[in-house]
Amino acid sequence: MSKVKDPKLAGNGEKELDWARGRMPMLASIRARFEKEKPLKGLSIGTCLHLEKKTGVLLETLKAGGANVFAASCNPLTTDDSVAAALAKNGINVFAWAGQSNEEYYANINSVLDGKPNAVIDDGCDQIFALHKNRRELLPNIRGGCEETTTGITRLKAMEKDGKLEFPVIAVNNAYSKYLFDNRFGTGQSTLDGIMRATNVLLAGKTVVVVGFGWCGRGIADRLRGLGANVVVVEISDRIRKGEPSGLHKALEALYSGYRVMDISSAAKVGDVFITATGCRNAIGSEHLKLMKSGAILANSGHFDNEIDKEYLAGQGKRREIKTNLEEFVMKDGRKLYLLSEGRLVNLSQPTGQGHPIEIMDGSFAIQALSLEYLLKNKLKHGVHDVPLEIDDKVAGMALESNGIRLPSLTKEQLDYLSSWEEGT
Ligand SMILES: NC(=O)c1ccc[n+]([C@@H]2O[C@H](COP(=O)([O-])OP(=O)(O)OC[C@H]3O[C@@H](n4cnc5c(N)ncnc54)[C@H](O)[C@@H]3O)[C@@H](O)[C@H]2O)c1
Repeated sequence: MSKVKDPKLAGNGEKELDWARGRMPMLASIRARFEKEKPLKGLSIGTCLHLEKKTGVLLETLKAGGANVFAASCNPLTTDDSVAAALAKNGINVFAWAGQSNEEYYANINSVLDGKPNAVIDDGCDQIFALHKNRRELLPNIRGGCEETTTGITRLKAMEKDGKLEFPVIAVNNAYSKYLFDNRFGTGQSTLDGIMRATNVLLAGKTVVVVGFGWCGRGIADRLRGLGANVVVVEISDRIRKGEPSGLHKALEALYSGYRVMDISSAAKVGDVFITATGCRNAIGSEHLKLMKSGAILANSGHFDNEIDKEYLAGQGKRREIKTNLEEFVMKDGRKLYLLSEGRLVNLSQPTGQGHPIEIMDGSFAIQALSLEYLLKNKLKHGVHDVPLEIDDKVAGMALESNGIRLPSLTKEQLDYLSSWEEGT
């Protein structure tokens, strides 16, 4: 049933999975409960996630809950082929390998949908989009979905606004604990890990431009500072989502955190390394690429490979692959620019990107598993829903507990004080 690169890689994948399982205590406790209670019994779950070892542990947890699990990758480059082989051997229906063509990528999502899902889990909304566009006959079967990332939520909100979202989706990305440990601390570490593995360059002393100072950008900038880089932050003046700080607020936060803040045209002239994390198209456009120094390195950590204008780079003529995930482009004026991972997520592109640290994904996927269970137990209206606060707090508490930290609750006296309006009592 599965389609993976090489089933013989399963032995290695099993060892990888085992390493992750031992470091994911939150998912282990959810799995133990799911095994007893079988909350997903008889349901088919379609998933479209970066298919590597931590995701594998989530998929096993869903299977332990009684689900028939189908898995595609949410990006053509991010499947760990040995993990995919091991999961297929362990009874997950896997349709993914690293280095899929665009056609293969969408065909694999379609194969997952052939499993007639009752619920879906997405990272970037491609599966939910395919369901609404090409597989509408399956919509009556769908009880809802969960979405993992900022870009997916942006797409879902746009669908909801146009009245086109035909089932409830929980915005797992928007749980405070997910923003905090995944987008900020996870992307902070894994993005730099991906860049260092692909290039082997020293970041200390380099001028590194972080484009977008949202949750991800802030984490990347903080970790760069720790490595001794000279960090420049680039923002815009707009507000992307209602009810959230604008780019002006983010820029001010960056400035008061001690970073240099510039517009992209000024930053383009001084950067040695550029990292985009905006969720926006052409955050680095051709007009900025024209200003860069020879030798500049370009990496993207935003969801889609459209944050850096790679078509412009390709149109310049000479391209050379130095090694997997490291390409050289010689500009017509002789400058050399280097693009990592084809402009796709640098922290997840195999084999140089390993994704977020295991402990981080334990938390993110604990929110996924609990949100899916909540979605299936409760009848939610069509549209995008926040993660219930109880789940958000529960996972933050579990993460602290897995670090040996347990915090007290407020006393009755303190609670009364915080809810009273009388002067100074
Ligand atoms: N690499 C990963 O593992 C990973 C993890 C989580 C999220 N993501 C993706 O990273 C992207 C950013 O996510 P986030 O949670 O930080 O979002 P966010 O909304 O918190 O931050 C994005 C920031 O970019 C700024 N911005 C938007 N367009 C810009 C432009 N053209 N130039 C400069 N700044 C611009 C916005 O003002 C905002 O401050 C999304 O695509 C998200 O899906 C990736």
